[in-house]
Amino acid sequence: MKLIQFSDIHMVPRGQKLFGLSPAARLDACIADINARQTDADFCIITGDLANAGQPEAYETLRDCLEKLQSPYYLAIGNHDDRKHFGQVFPEVEKDENGFVQYVIDFPDVRFFVLDTVEEGAHWGSYCAPRAGWLDEQLAASKDKPVYIFMHHPPFEIGMPSLDKLRIRDAHLFSEVVSRYNNIRHIFHGHVHRPVFGSWSGIPVSAVRGTNHQVQFDLETVAPIPLSHEPPAYAMILLRRDQTIVHYHDFLDQSVISETQASEFAHDHKMTGSMPAAV
Ligand SMILES: [Fe+2]
Ligand SMILES: [Fe+2]
Repeated sequence: MKLIQFSDIHMVPRGQKLFGLSPAARLDACIADINARQTDADFCIITGDLANAGQPEAYETLRDCLEKLQSPYYLAIGNHDDRKHFGQVFPEVEKDENGFVQYVIDFPDVRFFVLDTVEEGAHWGSYCAPRAGWLDEQLAASKDKPVYIFMHHPPFEIGMPSLDKLRIRDAHLFSEVVSRYNNIRHIFHGHVHRPVFGSWSGIPVSAVRGTNHQVQFDLETVAPIPLSHEPPAYAMILLRRDQTIVHYHDFLDQSVISETQASEFAHDHKMTGSMPAAV
Protein backbone atom coordinates (compact mmCIF):
# COMPACT_ATOMS: atom_id res chain seq x y z
CA MET A 1 0.00 0.00 0.00
CA LYS A 2 0.99 3.58 -0.42
CA LEU A 3 -0.15 6.30 1.99
CA ILE A 4 0.62 10.00 2.02
CA GLN A 5 0.94 11.82 5.35
CA PHE A 6 0.87 15.56 5.62
CA SER A 7 0.36 17.59 8.73
CA ASP A 8 -0.02 20.88 10.56
CA ILE A 9 -1.71 22.89 7.84
CA HIS A 10 -2.74 25.60 10.34
CA MET A 11 -5.35 26.90 7.91
CA VAL A 12 -6.63 30.46 8.37
CA PRO A 13 -9.72 32.05 6.77
CA ARG A 14 -9.34 32.68 3.04
CA GLY A 15 -7.14 35.63 2.17
CA GLN A 16 -5.32 35.72 5.53
CA LYS A 17 -1.67 34.90 6.11
CA LEU A 18 0.16 33.18 8.94
CA PHE A 19 3.80 34.07 9.68
CA GLY A 20 3.98 35.76 6.28
CA LEU A 21 2.82 32.65 4.44
CA SER A 22 -0.49 31.56 2.95
CA PRO A 23 -1.45 28.18 4.44
CA ALA A 24 -3.97 27.73 1.60
CA ALA A 25 -1.35 28.38 -1.10
CA ARG A 26 1.06 26.00 0.64
CA LEU A 27 -1.63 23.32 0.85
CA ASP A 28 -2.57 23.87 -2.79
CA ALA A 29 1.08 23.27 -3.76
CA CYS A 30 1.22 20.13 -1.62
CA ILE A 31 -1.98 18.79 -3.17
CA ALA A 32 -0.82 19.61 -6.71
CA ASP A 33 2.37 17.62 -6.12
CA ILE A 34 0.45 14.67 -4.65
CA ASN A 35 -2.00 14.71 -7.57
CA ALA A 36 0.90 14.74 -10.03
CA ARG A 37 3.16 12.14 -8.44
CA GLN A 38 1.03 9.97 -6.18
CA THR A 39 -1.83 8.83 -8.37
CA ASP A 40 -1.48 5.31 -6.93
CA ALA A 41 -1.82 6.39 -3.27
CA ASP A 42 -4.44 4.43 -1.35
CA PHE A 43 -5.23 7.42 0.82
CA CYS A 44 -3.86 10.58 2.41
CA ILE A 45 -3.86 11.14 6.15
CA ILE A 46 -3.55 14.61 7.70
CA THR A 47 -2.29 14.41 11.27
CA GLY A 48 -3.83 17.45 12.93
CA ASP A 49 -3.60 21.17 13.44
CA LEU A 50 -5.87 21.44 10.43
CA ALA A 51 -6.79 25.04 11.33
CA ASN A 52 -4.65 27.55 13.21
CA ALA A 53 -7.39 28.98 15.42
CA GLY A 54 -10.28 26.59 14.82
CA GLN A 55 -12.65 29.03 13.09
CA PRO A 56 -15.44 27.59 10.89
CA GLU A 57 -14.20 29.81 8.02
CA ALA A 58 -10.77 28.19 8.21
CA TYR A 59 -12.30 24.70 8.02
CA GLU A 60 -14.40 25.80 5.05
CA THR A 61 -11.26 27.03 3.29
CA LEU A 62 -9.58 23.73 4.14
CA ARG A 63 -12.51 21.76 2.75
CA ASP A 64 -12.39 23.76 -0.50
CA CYS A 65 -8.65 23.01 -0.86
CA LEU A 66 -9.08 19.30 -0.09
CA GLU A 67 -11.73 18.95 -2.79
CA LYS A 68 -8.88 19.21 -5.31
CA LEU A 69 -7.13 16.19 -3.81
CA GLN A 70 -7.63 13.19 -6.09
CA SER A 71 -6.93 10.56 -3.40
CA PRO A 72 -9.30 9.74 -0.56
CA TYR A 73 -8.30 11.52 2.63
CA TYR A 74 -8.71 11.09 6.37
CA LEU A 75 -8.34 13.73 9.08
CA ALA A 76 -7.05 13.84 12.65
CA ILE A 77 -7.37 16.88 14.89
CA GLY A 78 -4.63 18.69 16.85
CA ASN A 79 -4.28 21.26 19.60
CA HIS A 80 -5.06 24.19 17.28
CA ASP A 81 -8.34 22.59 16.21
CA ASP A 82 -11.82 23.05 17.60
CA ARG A 83 -13.83 19.82 17.80
CA LYS A 84 -17.20 21.57 17.45
CA HIS A 85 -16.32 23.74 14.45
CA PHE A 86 -14.40 20.89 12.83
CA GLY A 87 -17.45 18.63 13.20
CA GLN A 88 -19.73 21.26 11.65
CA VAL A 89 -17.65 21.49 8.48
CA PHE A 90 -16.58 17.82 8.32
CA PRO A 91 -19.67 16.02 9.71
CA GLU A 92 -18.74 12.80 7.91
CA VAL A 93 -15.61 12.23 10.02
CA GLU A 94 -16.32 9.52 12.56
CA LYS A 95 -16.22 9.99 16.31
CA ASP A 96 -16.10 7.40 19.08
CA GLU A 97 -18.95 6.90 21.55
CA ASN A 98 -17.57 9.68 23.77
CA GLY A 99 -17.36 12.25 20.97
CA PHE A 100 -13.60 12.03 20.41
CA VAL A 101 -12.49 12.23 16.77
CA GLN A 102 -11.00 8.75 16.59
CA TYR A 103 -11.82 5.90 14.27
CA VAL A 104 -10.52 2.84 12.45
CA ILE A 105 -9.81 2.60 8.71
CA ASP A 106 -10.26 -1.07 7.97
CA PHE A 107 -8.69 -2.97 5.06
CA PRO A 108 -8.79 -6.76 4.56
CA ASP A 109 -5.24 -7.32 5.84
CA VAL A 110 -4.43 -4.18 7.81
CA ARG A 111 -6.00 -1.55 10.04
CA PHE A 112 -5.20 2.11 10.51
CA PHE A 113 -6.19 3.90 13.71
CA VAL A 114 -6.70 7.66 13.79
CA LEU A 115 -6.53 8.95 17.38
CA ASP A 116 -7.74 12.12 19.10
CA THR A 117 -5.05 13.49 21.45
CA VAL A 118 -6.57 16.93 22.01
CA GLU A 119 -6.99 18.40 25.50
CA GLU A 120 -9.49 21.21 25.04
CA GLY A 121 -8.07 24.61 26.03
CA ALA A 122 -4.48 23.36 26.15
CA HIS A 123 -1.67 22.93 23.68
CA TRP A 124 -0.27 19.82 25.31
CA GLY A 125 -1.88 16.49 24.47
CA SER A 126 -4.00 14.08 26.47
CA TYR A 127 -5.08 10.48 26.11
CA CYS A 128 -7.57 10.01 28.93
CA ALA A 129 -9.13 6.79 30.26
CA PRO A 130 -12.20 6.81 27.95
CA ARG A 131 -9.95 7.21 24.90
CA ALA A 132 -7.53 4.56 26.14
CA GLY A 133 -10.51 2.25 26.73
CA TRP A 134 -11.64 2.72 23.13
CA LEU A 135 -8.12 2.01 21.87
CA ASP A 136 -7.92 -1.15 23.96
CA GLU A 137 -11.24 -2.39 22.53
CA GLN A 138 -10.18 -1.67 18.95
CA LEU A 139 -6.81 -3.35 19.36
CA ALA A 140 -8.46 -6.40 20.92
CA ALA A 141 -10.90 -6.55 17.98
CA SER A 142 -8.05 -6.32 15.47
CA LYS A 143 -6.59 -9.62 16.70
CA ASP A 144 -3.45 -10.31 14.65
CA LYS A 145 -4.01 -7.75 11.88
CA PRO A 146 -1.13 -5.28 11.58
CA VAL A 147 -2.10 -1.87 13.00
CA TYR A 148 -0.65 1.53 12.09
CA ILE A 149 -1.48 4.52 14.29
CA PHE A 150 -1.88 8.15 13.24
CA MET A 151 -2.06 10.81 15.97
CA HIS A 152 -1.21 14.47 16.46
CA HIS A 153 0.76 14.67 19.73
CA PRO A 154 3.54 12.17 20.43
CA PRO A 155 3.34 10.30 23.75
CA PHE A 156 7.14 10.67 24.17
CA GLU A 157 9.83 13.36 24.37
CA ILE A 158 11.93 14.10 21.28
CA GLY A 159 14.76 16.01 22.98
CA MET A 160 13.53 19.54 22.23
CA PRO A 161 12.30 21.39 25.36
CA SER A 162 9.77 23.65 23.62
CA LEU A 163 8.02 20.61 22.13
CA ASP A 164 8.53 18.12 24.92
CA LYS A 165 6.40 20.15 27.31
CA LEU A 166 3.56 19.89 24.76
CA ARG A 167 3.60 16.10 24.33
CA ILE A 168 0.82 13.86 25.69
CA ARG A 169 1.11 14.42 29.43
CA ASP A 170 -0.90 11.45 30.67
CA ALA A 171 0.82 9.06 28.26
CA HIS A 172 0.99 6.25 30.84
CA LEU A 173 -2.58 5.24 29.91
CA PHE A 174 -1.70 5.06 26.22
CA SER A 175 1.52 3.24 27.06
CA GLU A 176 -0.24 0.64 29.21
CA VAL A 177 -2.68 -0.19 26.41
CA VAL A 178 -0.18 -0.46 23.57
CA SER A 179 2.19 -2.55 25.70
CA ARG A 180 -0.44 -5.30 25.77
CA TYR A 181 -0.32 -5.79 21.98
CA ASN A 182 2.44 -6.74 19.59
CA ASN A 183 0.78 -5.94 16.26
CA ILE A 184 1.33 -2.14 16.27
CA ARG A 185 3.74 -1.59 13.39
CA HIS A 186 4.31 2.17 13.43
CA ILE A 187 3.13 5.45 14.99
CA PHE A 188 2.96 8.42 12.60
CA HIS A 189 2.49 11.74 14.35
CA GLY A 190 2.44 15.49 13.68
CA HIS A 191 2.65 18.48 16.05
CA VAL A 192 6.45 18.86 16.11
CA HIS A 193 6.76 20.42 12.61
CA ARG A 194 10.04 18.57 12.17
CA PRO A 195 11.32 15.39 10.50
CA VAL A 196 11.87 12.97 13.39
CA PHE A 197 12.35 9.19 13.31
CA GLY A 198 13.02 6.57 15.95
CA SER A 199 11.24 4.06 18.12
CA TRP A 200 9.36 4.18 21.38
CA SER A 201 8.58 1.16 23.54
CA GLY A 202 9.72 -0.98 20.62
CA ILE A 203 7.36 0.70 18.12
CA PRO A 204 8.84 2.61 15.15
CA VAL A 205 7.76 6.26 15.10
CA SER A 206 8.04 9.17 12.68
CA ALA A 207 6.87 12.75 12.30
CA VAL A 208 6.73 15.03 9.28
CA ARG A 209 7.21 18.77 8.78
CA GLY A 210 4.12 20.96 8.49
CA THR A 211 2.82 22.27 5.19
CA ASN A 212 3.10 25.92 6.34
CA HIS A 213 5.70 26.89 9.00
CA GLN A 214 8.23 24.79 10.93
CA VAL A 215 9.90 24.61 14.35
CA GLN A 216 13.56 25.62 14.54
CA PHE A 217 16.21 23.08 15.44
CA ASP A 218 16.61 24.81 18.80
CA LEU A 219 17.67 22.55 21.66
CA GLU A 220 17.47 25.10 24.49
CA THR A 221 14.44 27.40 24.24
CA VAL A 222 11.49 26.35 26.35
CA ALA A 223 9.02 29.10 25.35
CA PRO A 224 7.82 30.53 23.13
CA ILE A 225 8.25 27.83 20.51
CA PRO A 226 10.96 29.03 18.08
CA LEU A 227 9.46 28.87 14.58
CA SER A 228 11.13 28.89 11.17
CA HIS A 229 10.60 29.04 7.43
CA GLU A 230 12.34 25.74 6.75
CA PRO A 231 10.74 24.07 3.72
CA PRO A 232 7.47 22.17 4.01
CA ALA A 233 7.23 18.46 3.24
CA TYR A 234 4.91 15.51 3.00
CA ALA A 235 5.67 11.86 3.70
CA MET A 236 5.19 9.03 1.22
CA ILE A 237 4.69 5.81 3.19
CA LEU A 238 5.20 2.46 1.46
CA LEU A 239 3.80 -0.48 3.39
CA ARG A 240 4.39 -4.14 2.81
CA ARG A 241 3.94 -7.08 5.11
CA ASP A 242 7.70 -7.12 5.79
CA GLN A 243 8.64 -3.42 5.64
CA THR A 244 7.65 0.18 6.22
CA ILE A 245 9.48 2.81 4.17
CA VAL A 246 8.98 6.53 4.71
CA HIS A 247 10.17 9.12 2.18
CA TYR A 248 10.01 12.84 2.88
CA HIS A 249 9.43 15.11 -0.08
CA ASP A 250 10.07 18.89 0.05
CA PHE A 251 7.32 19.65 -2.41
CA LEU A 252 8.37 23.28 -3.04
CA ASP A 253 11.95 22.36 -3.89
CA GLN A 254 12.37 22.43 -7.67
CA SER A 255 16.17 22.22 -7.61
CA VAL A 256 17.95 19.69 -9.81
CA ILE A 257 21.57 19.18 -10.74
CA SER A 258 21.74 20.04 -14.44
CA GLU A 259 23.42 17.85 -17.03
CA THR A 260 26.00 20.61 -17.45
CA GLN A 261 26.83 20.61 -13.73
CA ALA A 262 27.01 16.81 -13.72
CA SER A 263 29.34 16.72 -16.73
CA GLU A 264 31.54 19.47 -15.21
CA PHE A 265 31.86 17.33 -12.10
CA ALA A 266 32.72 14.28 -14.20
CA HIS A 267 35.34 16.28 -16.14
CA ASP A 268 36.91 17.72 -12.94
CA HIS A 269 37.19 14.23 -11.47
CA LYS A 270 38.36 12.64 -14.74
CA MET A 271 35.41 10.27 -14.76
CA THR A 272 34.78 8.42 -17.98
CA GLY A 273 31.53 8.60 -19.88
CA SER A 274 30.77 5.05 -18.81
CA MET A 275 30.82 6.00 -15.13
CA PRO A 276 27.21 6.48 -13.98
CA ALA A 277 26.27 9.39 -11.76
CA ALA A 278 26.21 8.29 -8.14
CA VAL A 279 25.17 9.62 -4.76
FE1 LIG B 1 1.11 22.43 14.52
FE1 LIG C 1 0.14 20.83 17.38
